[in-house]
Amino acid sequence: MAFAITQNCCNDASCLSVCPVNCIHPTPDEPDFGTTDLLYIDPRSCIDCGACADACPVDAITRVNRLTPEQQVYAELNADYYRDRPIDNAWGAPRFPLPTIGDVQLDRVAVIGTGPAACYAATAVLRQTNARVTFYERLSVPGGLARFGVAPDHLGTRRIGEHFRPLFAHPRVTVRTGVDVGVETSVDEIRAAHDAVIVAVGADRDRTLPWVDPEGAAPFSARTLVGWYTGHPGVAADAVDLRGVRRVVVIGNGNVALDAARILTANPESLVDTEIAPHALAALRNADVAEVIVLARRGPDHAAFTRPECQALVSRREVPVFVAGPGAAESAAALPFSASAAPLAGVPALDLADLGRPVGSAGSGRRIVFAFGVDPRGLETTDSGGVRLTARATDGSSVVVDADLVLQAAGYRGAPVPGLPFDEERGTVRNLDGRVTREDGSVVPRTYVVGWAKRGATGGIGDNKADAEATVDAVIADSVRTPAGSGSGRVRRRLPLLPVSRRS
Ligand SMILES: Cc1cc2nc3c(=O)[nH]c(=O)nc-3n(C[C@H](O)[C@H](O)[C@H](O)COP(=O)(O)OP(=O)(O)OC[C@H]3O[C@@H](n4cnc5c(N)ncnc54)[C@H](O)[C@@H]3O)c2cc1C
Ligand SMILES: NC(=O)c1ccc[n+]([C@@H]2O[C@H](COP(=O)([O-])OP(=O)(O)OC[C@H]3O[C@@H](n4cnc5c(N)ncnc54)[C@H](OP(=O)(O)O)[C@@H]3O)[C@@H](O)[C@H]2O)c1
Ligand code: SF4
Ligand code: SF4
Repeated sequence: MAFAITQNCCNDASCLSVCPVNCIHPTPDEPDFGTTDLLYIDPRSCIDCGACADACPVDAITRVNRLTPEQQVYAELNADYYRDRPIDNAWGAPRFPLPTIGDVQLDRVAVIGTGPAACYAATAVLRQTNARVTFYERLSVPGGLARFGVAPDHLGTRRIGEHFRPLFAHPRVTVRTGVDVGVETSVDEIRAAHDAVIVAVGADRDRTLPWVDPEGAAPFSARTLVGWYTGHPGVAADAVDLRGVRRVVVIGNGNVALDAARILTANPESLVDTEIAPHALAALRNADVAEVIVLARRGPDHAAFTRPECQALVSRREVPVFVAGPGAAESAAALPFSASAAPLAGVPALDLADLGRPVGSAGSGRRIVFAFGVDPRGLETTDSGGVRLTARATDGSSVVVDADLVLQAAGYRGAPVPGLPFDEERGTVRNLDGRVTREDGSVVPRTYVVGWAKRGATGGIGDNKADAEATVDAVIADSVRTPAGSGSGRVRRRLPLLPVSRRS
């Protein structure tokens, strides 16, 4: 009886190196690594040793005969990945691309941020060099979105925080919290006191919606909702008011939209044993959200959510799920089994016209509607204090929905950090493969970037690992001592001690 990888998988690839028969794929060397929603165990080769389950930081690996009824689909999904693939458990040639510790001239490395990308980068620095690492974190507590983004009911995924905790207590690590780089201290000051600076500040703004009139009604940011229910120190306990909210429209259908839809429609008692902020739990107990419409401008074949997150909503029988939109039901039914929206095959369909109808009376049950092919065009406030969303469907019809709350979950975007070149188009720190670059393409010495600040706001926790390790390879390559007399070795500098304020 093989093991199977399930919903929590964040693609960090920790299980790969411990599998004695190399039956977990795709590996980082294989083309679909980074595009599949999770990794998969080949049930034909798994020898049931359990090593991968022990190595997984988020408890995503389970013996197939211990899967719950809701998890059974993962046995099929793991097997399905290998259906048309030959057994391939040959190991690739070992690679040792890195210099030995003695060659590297890195004494002090600064890491700005403490989210997953920062943690993976620092881990790689500590493992591959003798350098000391100083984290600078704007908030009073470390963790980034692993703490203040990952949904409070995703307890398995939130265990990644425990996985990183020993890092902050490592003897060669100092953590400076409450230091907003660019405000309390500058990148220049930090660089002057370190051999290398690794920027891992994430992306903490909303992507702009070009059709929203800056003078008119604005959608409520899902970022604020997320910060509110995760207890983000910068989001007030009363930042979200759900009193009288019956219908919520969520713009965008990425995983953040699905997190919001799931939390807003959950039975509050099912959230008691999660890590939800107490003020959010109290507010949800007094709320009566009847319907969440998850609005996507494209069809089910272009869903931005991942299959496991969609599956989780469909498997939650107490909150029925519907689809709406031109051809959406037929399109979902025609998707391959592994497609993101495949769990929506066979769920009941609604007419788009139904989206405009008043929601049932208070206490009449909850539902989630996945509306596809509905492109929002405008928002206005109504006389009753609600919001009217107008949209155009892909069949040319007009759609009007009156809602009590319109949430924007259309993606995150980075903000400029003073002293660092910013790529306005991508919303990232300007860089070439992790080396920070100026507008003219020249490299800013000893300055690097990882995670969402490097790639843009895309990818799960584990996707930041290979990316951070690649940047650390660049840090190390730039710090290798060359033989005396070759003329290209870096000159060792005496580093000043950096004065930093501490708020926490
Ligand atoms: C709502 C939400 C839920 C998610 N849930 C999941 C999930 O269930 N599973 C999954 O695999 N992935 C999930 N993700 C994706 C995952 O969180 C990201 O891939 C990951 O957090 C990106 O890591 P990062 O380190 O680049 O950024 P972040 O995690 O955002 O970390 C950036 C850090 O830098 C700090 N910082 C920012 N600016 C400064 C400054 N000027 N000075 C000092 N510090 C600064 C921030 O406070 C923060 O701690 C989720 C994302 C979101 C938005
Ligand atoms: N459980 C998890 O693993 C988890 C949880 C949360 C987040 N994450 C990850 O974090 C990353 C960010 O997630 P996200 O949900 O914030 O963003 P996302 O996946 O990029 O989704 C953004 C959504 O907004 C839509 N959108 C963008 N611009 C729009 C516009 N102008 N008008 C209307 N709709 C618009 C997009 O539609 P188009 O597709 O048509 O552009 C898409 O549906 C993703 O990689 C996600 O997987 C993971
Ligand atoms: S149980 Fe053992 S053999 Fe099977 S996938 Fe996990 S590590 Fe590999
Ligand atoms: S989270 Fe990491 S260790 Fe766990 S199954 Fe996914 S890739 Fe493997």
